[in-house]
Amino acid sequence: MELKLLLTVLLIQSATVPADYIRPPPRKAFHLPWHSKPSSYPQQVHISLAGDQHMRVTWITDDNSAPSIVEYGTSPGQYDSVAEGENTSYSYMFYNSGKIHHTVIGPLEHDSVYYYRCGQQGPEFQLRTPPAQLPITFAVAGDLGQTGWTKSTLDHIDQCKYNVHLLPGDLAYADYIQRHWDSFGRLVQPLASARPWMVTQGNHEVESIPLLKDGFVSYNSRWKMPFEESGSNSNLFYSFEVAGVHIIMLGSYADYDEYSEQYRWLKEDLSKVDRKRTPWLLVLFHVPWYNSNTAHQGEGADMMAAMEPLLNAASVDLVLAGHVHAYERSKRVYNGRVDSCGSVHITIGDGGNKEGLAHKYINPQPIWSEFREASFGHGELKIVNSTHAFWSWHRNDDDEPVKSDDIWITSLISSGCVDQKRNELRNKLMTP
Ligand SMILES: *[C@@H]1O[C@H](CO)[C@@H](O)[C@H](O)[C@H]1NC(C)=O
Ligand SMILES: *[C@@H]1O[C@H](CO)[C@@H](O)[C@H](O)[C@H]1NC(C)=O
Repeated sequence: MELKLLLTVLLIQSATVPADYIRPPPRKAFHLPWHSKPSSYPQQVHISLAGDQHMRVTWITDDNSAPSIVEYGTSPGQYDSVAEGENTSYSYMFYNSGKIHHTVIGPLEHDSVYYYRCGQQGPEFQLRTPPAQLPITFAVAGDLGQTGWTKSTLDHIDQCKYNVHLLPGDLAYADYIQRHWDSFGRLVQPLASARPWMVTQGNHEVESIPLLKDGFVSYNSRWKMPFEESGSNSNLFYSFEVAGVHIIMLGSYADYDEYSEQYRWLKEDLSKVDRKRTPWLLVLFHVPWYNSNTAHQGEGADMMAAMEPLLNAASVDLVLAGHVHAYERSKRVYNGRVDSCGSVHITIGDGGNKEGLAHKYINPQPIWSEFREASFGHGELKIVNSTHAFWSWHRNDDDEPVKSDDIWITSLISSGCVDQKRNELRNKLMTP
């Protein structure tokens, strides 16, 4: 207790906080009790978008013979459709995972509630599919972990009306302890079984051991994303479209230079974007390119040098990153400078992980940086129509989801930035 108090005092002293806001200290790991269930009982249920009007349902069973079947329908308890999927598992040193089931269901109606059951066992879940057209709302939180702060971030996200969750890397903070992936799966299940969670990888997902284990074994097995559906050969980078928004998930920990598969795939994916169909273009990855926090300074520079010209030529509206445990929003920027046809960059690596906040900033604040604060919280992005989106950041202040920063963002196509000249440049860059 005394130690905790001392730690609290030290933390408050070391932080450069605004005078009117006393920042609360980090919180301990959050433990969800797990009462043992039959071995075929579905656990860690989460869903993700899997191509037009399809959803992938993922869950884990201890029982290796449990079927990968999802029964579903639009009324509770009445399942008029059934789909069978695939299964996988992995071992990691002395740990053997349960059976991991991935079953794609659909075609599903837009903006509808479906009731479903996994493996003909256990409770009924319900999910809501995203709308066919704008408006759509995204919840955004990176670097989640599984602490008391994670729990309050998740509770706040649960209160907002959102369609899809976007996570720019660092999920469980399992850090080689594989059962922590399981506890994370159980912690997020209430939200992730109800709305699609679209994630990309962070450094805490790597978990490679030289000569013994390749990277991303657990992440790729448990959090399969629609990479095949988007023409990618790796779960570490993919794209999807939802309600008039094209979203690209890049991999900060996959090769990104101009000879890499990721670079080749990105060019191809960008060349397929049709702004008439998807007026908004978003990109997520873990390590921020625009960051004025002293934490992780310059770590995104190589990827930025390789890929920012492509994103700029394609007129990406908004880039969301994590990694730095704080919040920062930029003006429209390109090539390190304010540029009215550049992208807005937001760092939102403050979901609530065990490592605590990154308090120190470079001063003076760079011209491109519009708002920055080291607090836990989450973001909400409501894309209203083809020209306007409303972004807000909600700080976990005393367990209330206080809205601390908000801004209207206008799309680049409505700002005269997607013109003839840029189209030509884009075509030149995107030609394979
Ligand atoms: C699990 O997947 C394997 C192939 O990876 C397949 O042969 C097997 O039938 C599947 N088992 C079940 C119960 O679906
Ligand atoms: C888009 O939404 C904004 C904000 O609500 C509104 O001002 C604007 O008129 C809308 N544009 C169209 C074309 O509906």
